[in-house]
Amino acid sequence: ARKFFVGGNFKIRKQEGLHDPTPERHAEKNHNTHRNGTSASVKSIVENLNNATLDPSVEVVISPPALYLILTRELLKGEIGVAAQNVFDKPNGAFTGEISVSQLIDSKIDWTILGHSERRTILGESDTTVASKTAYAIANGLSVMWCCGESLEEREADKTVEVVTKQLDALKAEISDWSKIVIAYEPIWAIGTGKVATTQQAQDVHAAIRNWLKTAVSDKAADETRILYGGSVNEKNCGELSKQPDIDGFLVGGASLKPAFVDIINCQQ
Ligand code: 13P
Repeated sequence: ARKFFVGGNFKIRKQEGLHDPTPERHAEKNHNTHRNGTSASVKSIVENLNNATLDPSVEVVISPPALYLILTRELLKGEIGVAAQNVFDKPNGAFTGEISVSQLIDSKIDWTILGHSERRTILGESDTTVASKTAYAIANGLSVMWCCGESLEEREADKTVEVVTKQLDALKAEISDWSKIVIAYEPIWAIGTGKVATTQQAQDVHAAIRNWLKTAVSDKAADETRILYGGSVNEKNCGELSKQPDIDGFLVGGASLKPAFVDIINCQQ
């Protein structure tokens, strides 16, 4: 059986000026604005996790902004992993502004997120750049939460599986070891919008990804690779999503900054 996995992606702060459909969401956004992006907020989130009783059958990895990685690693107790949100794909050298894989390992950071849609769309990372970073990270000892997903336009044009398959094909061209990869399916239209994919929409894409693993990689990769859902996951919608046969966990943005993150981790209890 695949070990359930919950990742927390602490962004700098929530996107503003996007859809703000309910007063609840508005309040949540204000709350988040005050809660992330400072060492005090990182400390309080870590403290909350340290004091919580977490389902021991769930793997938890949190991903603060790079400046707070070491602080987070030092303060966290227990088995929780720490992930960078990005890493460079070259060895140590003259690359001003970048952080290397070996620097993460030296800082006891075992994971990185790669290919988040914000890096693909805002920072211009292509499928091949993301694949190259993933291959380099894995070859040098990191585990990777590799993200994929379609835009609203692509979904409405019925191109979801095509887009995700193209992203997966680019990854496959660079890697052969899938044991250190967790796939995060994050439809862009569901990120930070309060608009969660329906359980069926999520399950369908997860099943397509698993099917791709089976045909393009191996039965073993299809059986063992965790496929996470990300995009407006909260303590209310996580239960139903977690019951889907191909949803093996979540990559949580906004809700990972709140005490309710513990409820998401424990959603199978
Ligand atoms: P939200 O949970 O805030 O929608 O963000 C999802 C995400 O991008 C996680 O990487």
